[in-house]
Amino acid sequence: MDILEAIRERRSVRSFDGAALSEAVRKDLLAFAEKVYNPFGGHFSIRLKSFNLENGYKPTTYGMIKDAHDFFLIGMADDETSALATGFCFEQVVLKAWQLGLGTCWIAATFKGTDFDNGESWPKGEALKIISPVGKAAKKSLMEKITRLSLGSRNRKPFSELFFTDGFKQPLSSDSPFDEALEMLRLAPSSTNSQPWRVLIDNDTVHFYYVLKSRLSVLDTGIGICHFYETEKYYGHTGAFYTLPTPPANHDKWKYLISYKREDQK
Ligand SMILES: Cc1cc2nc3c(=O)[nH]c(=O)nc-3n(C[C@H](O)[C@H](O)[C@H](O)COP(=O)(O)O)c2cc1C
Repeated sequence: MDILEAIRERRSVRSFDGAALSEAVRKDLLAFAEKVYNPFGGHFSIRLKSFNLENGYKPTTYGMIKDAHDFFLIGMADDETSALATGFCFEQVVLKAWQLGLGTCWIAATFKGTDFDNGESWPKGEALKIISPVGKAAKKSLMEKITRLSLGSRNRKPFSELFFTDGFKQPLSSDSPFDEALEMLRLAPSSTNSQPWRVLIDNDTVHFYYVLKSRLSVLDTGIGICHFYETEKYYGHTGAFYTLPTPPANHDKWKYLISYKREDQK
């Protein structure tokens, strides 16, 4: 399965088959998590922890996650760069897991921190902020169906509400060179499906903005930028991220985050 198929097909999985990951898959995932591409810096750590369901110990996810044996734990620092990098980097792991036939679910709210943090210590400045189960999906539980329905998880905002040109004056037309990369961004997961990302295109440059919907909006935007960048890579484009000292255009509600310039002539 190529990366675009993974982006299109991925969904959050909350019901699992209860089996532990094999040692080979654990190693694969951990090795991948260690070498994810991070153009932003920041401070975060990705760990993989097993919980022995046979002993009857289940860490609390307030009923959201059923029969997961293995969980990623993500510690991160409390600054914008770390949030952007965590979103961008852990989403690479989420997509890799999907390519290996494994489901995940970013979880920032519905878990009891002390159950998962037990015995862990984090580098200075970092704390456990996110967990994600990982394993083979089982049939969706009733709870999962209800959760997805109440979050509107299948819905995404239309292209015309998210992507703009001409200093936000015009919605982007569908013949932009970034069409497909933006379509893949549009499909990204976000907390409460809030889709805070907004984009302003200026020729070969993409400026990423976000709507401040929650403390997770920058991290969410990092996830979207991961989908964008994976698509650029898939089509053989090269480009670089950079931050402008002042936003390229002001918007009364949206905050400027980062820019990307495509550097090849393809
Ligand atoms: C940063 C982040 C935090 C999330 N936190 C939770 C959570 O606490 N509980 C939960 O059930 N789902 C959580 N989700 C999953 C979202 O609800 C889900 O991604 C969204 O509804 C879109 O659905 P999809 O991932 O199936 O496309 C989170 C997602 C992200 C990206």
